[in-house]
Amino acid sequence: MKFFIDTANLDQIREAQALGVLDGVTTNPSLMAKEGITGRNNILKHYVDICDIVEGDVSAEVISTDFEGMIKEGEELVDLHEQIVVKVPMIKDGVKALKYFSDKGIRTNCTLVFSVGQALLAAKAGATYVSPFIGRLDDISTDGLNLIAEIRHVYDNYAFETQILAASVRHTMHVIDCAKLGADVMTGPLSSIEGLLKHPLTDIGLAKFLADYKKGN
Ligand code: G3P
Repeated sequence: MKFFIDTANLDQIREAQALGVLDGVTTNPSLMAKEGITGRNNILKHYVDICDIVEGDVSAEVISTDFEGMIKEGEELVDLHEQIVVKVPMIKDGVKALKYFSDKGIRTNCTLVFSVGQALLAAKAGATYVSPFIGRLDDISTDGLNLIAEIRHVYDNYAFETQILAASVRHTMHVIDCAKLGADVMTGPLSSIEGLLKHPLTDIGLAKFLADYKKGN
């Protein structure tokens, strides 16, 4: 299972990278705005800064909603750095753009996916990654994890190569449940990854080992 961090915050990306288990980064226009990164040139530079920190894939989202605009933006984005994956929304022109990029060998991440049907379309169009937003489904009292299970089932039926990138992961249990369900990738905040570390018996056990060591030395 790949671990991506879902942020545009360079300090958090550095911290996750230093842990040694980071496989990539996802961003979106809201995450960029949260870091105060505005204006096309600053946003493009920020993508390069992220690529310089991590070794894996970095999703960069197009803003256009028409086919021609998405293609123009996507080609500009992939020219920035070899690690860039073009993030395309699940809309009609987005599906056409996924197919275009796929035919050209350009890697894509289909975002804003909330149903199995959308995930099926993304796979048919040749998306590299599909991003079902599990947290936002939970927010509206719908089982986000069930969507991961359903997409896994459908993709396995036909051996689709599109990777399931569980997105809108909010906490550590989401990460664990996505791993159990066979998501290929998860993207979440640093806290969702660091939460995997924690167990009170580890802390208690370590304190006792250290105390016993001190007794004998
Ligand atoms: O990767 C998608 C993600 O950025 C959305 O997360 O927490 O805003 O629903 P969230």
